[in-house]
Amino acid sequence: MKFSMIFLVSNILLLLSSSPAFAKTVSPPAPIAPTPTPTPAPAPAPDYVNLTELLDVAGPFHTFLGYLESTKVLDTFQNQANNTEEGITIFVPKDTAFNSLKKPSLSKLKDDQIKQVILFHALPHFYSLSDFKNLSQTSLTPTFAGGDYTLNFTDDSGTIRINSGWSITKVTSAVHATNPVAIYQVDKVLLPEAIFGTDIPPAPAPAPTPEIAPAADSPTEKSADSKSSSPSSSPDGSSAYKLVSYGIWSNIVLASCGLVMMLL
Ligand SMILES: *[C@@H]1O[C@H](CO)[C@@H](O)[C@H](O)[C@H]1NC(C)=O
Ligand SMILES: *[C@@H]1O[C@H](CO)[C@@H](O)[C@H](O)[C@H]1NC(C)=O
Ligand SMILES: *[C@@H]1O[C@H](CO)[C@@H](O)[C@H](O)[C@H]1NC(C)=O
Ligand SMILES: *[C@@H]1O[C@H](CO)[C@@H](O)[C@H](O)[C@H]1NC(C)=O
Repeated sequence: MKFSMIFLVSNILLLLSSSPAFAKTVSPPAPIAPTPTPTPAPAPAPDYVNLTELLDVAGPFHTFLGYLESTKVLDTFQNQANNTEEGITIFVPKDTAFNSLKKPSLSKLKDDQIKQVILFHALPHFYSLSDFKNLSQTSLTPTFAGGDYTLNFTDDSGTIRINSGWSITKVTSAVHATNPVAIYQVDKVLLPEAIFGTDIPPAPAPAPTPEIAPAADSPTEKSADSKSSSPSSSPDGSSAYKLVSYGIWSNIVLASCGLVMMLL
């Protein structure tokens, strides 16, 4: 009687385990494939930054852009921006900075002097904000205007101050800082000592301008919607595990049945 019962049970279990449903679950669970995240294809094209476009939407930098165009310095800067080996760093005053220029007015300058002033606003190399710590150790940094048209940087615990020889300006925000093009907003027009000298009395203590600008909009930073697809553990996965443990249990029962039969 006992034998036949054991026989019956073990046969049933054998049948069950060889049935296709069981065979499927005993096989190791397929690794939960991570749902492929659609990574935004990084534009492989040479990083061409259109300076006009960039300065047109940020700022407002219309006055500076106007000078860039009228002096044709734009071509020089764009050419350097295209040169991905060195890159370029441009300091751009907002329109309000030009409006508040009263004492040394740019309108009194000759065309070639205006051109020098605009060239003075850029360095022929890409510098990230953290690079200015190093630059502040080299005393004077040459600009596009060449010769005596140098800038002196100081990194005042994160605040980058620019000494033009005539005035001290600071970087208020990064408009664009991706190699090879860095564009930083500055709170004053950089006036070169080579043109304005040091004899012009510095402007009366300027009223603290309340325009610590919010980080200027960078038109290139709008790819923030790639987090929507995170690999979610599929519900199928967990149920598959349960079935597998069921299968293991049935195997254990079978094995013990076989053992009992061998002993008897
Ligand atoms: C740069 O952008 C300006 C303004 O959108 C456009 O007029 C000009 O054609 C562009 N230049 C190039 C080389 O794409
Ligand atoms: C910069 O590169 C762009 C795209 O390759 C080109 O259209 C433009 O003419 C170049 N500009 C200068 C000044 O080299
Ligand atoms: C800045 O200076 C540090 C230490 O002097 C050096 O390791 C680093 O390469 C420098 N970075 C640049 C961009 O020159
Ligand atoms: C650079 O600027 C700092 C602070 O404005 C000044 O102390 C230093 O003398 C300047 N260096 C040169 C070489 O002009």
